[in-house]
Amino acid sequence: MADPAARLPKANGSGQRPRHVAIIMDGNGRWAVNKGWPRLVGHRRGAERVKQIVRACPDMGVNWLTLYAFSTENWKRTAEEVLGLMGIFARYIEREADGMSAEGVRMRFIGARERLDHRLQRLMAGIEARTAGNSRLNLTVAINYGGRDEIARASRRLAERVARGEIVNPTEADFASCLDTAGQPDPDLVIRTSGETRVSNFLPFQAAYAEYEFTPTLWPDFTPEHLAQILDRFGMRDRRFGGA
Ligand code: IPE
Ligand code: IPE
Ligand code: MG
Repeated sequence: MADPAARLPKANGSGQRPRHVAIIMDGNGRWAVNKGWPRLVGHRRGAERVKQIVRACPDMGVNWLTLYAFSTENWKRTAEEVLGLMGIFARYIEREADGMSAEGVRMRFIGARERLDHRLQRLMAGIEARTAGNSRLNLTVAINYGGRDEIARASRRLAERVARGEIVNPTEADFASCLDTAGQPDPDLVIRTSGETRVSNFLPFQAAYAEYEFTPTLWPDFTPEHLAQILDRFGMRDRRFGGA
């Protein structure tokens, strides 16, 4: 019988660091309910974790961070929870604007914005413009994001460009240039907290060759130390991209 150790990821010892980490920040609701508190308390605590993780990334060699904050499916939640989350996003942008500018964070958003509150849309556009010259950390936040919705919107953009004669025979790169993430590198590593082992419509095109880590830790309990451990494990992985 083959040595089972041979099936383990090969320790290539390269200590490679993911350039781009994407996180499905899940488990806020359960964290709060487990403590007998309203779900929104978990979302507020989750936003505190975002600040910590954003600050920790550059020193860990992570230059791109993409966070899944609200999916196209999350509108199914109660109006109270949806409005509460939108308020948390707006407050985060307002309160963190100075800190992010000072720390060299460039903030961007992906997802369909038109359905969001106009004030929130203005805050999003404002922080994108204000931080556009920064490059220490590229922070992308997915709000009203769904991978299938993004692919459908990108298909329409591509069709328009073909109709205008800008593109003749569309390639993978042409399609990627029509996604919300145009110009951004693909994630190397996708982390999901809370023990769920599914992707929930997050970056299906961009993460086609990403490594995945699923951790039982609920997002409000996820610390920079947890991230450091996951990054160390990533360093042991052997990424082959179909090669032998
Ligand atoms: C993730 O936490 C945050 C959002 C989806 C907005 P959840 O709110 O999904 O937390 P659980 O999965 O119910 O515990
Ligand atoms: C995915 O979490 C979306 C975000 C983390 C923003 P969900 O909690 O919405 O995913 P499902 O419903 O468990 O698949
Ligand atoms: Mg969830």
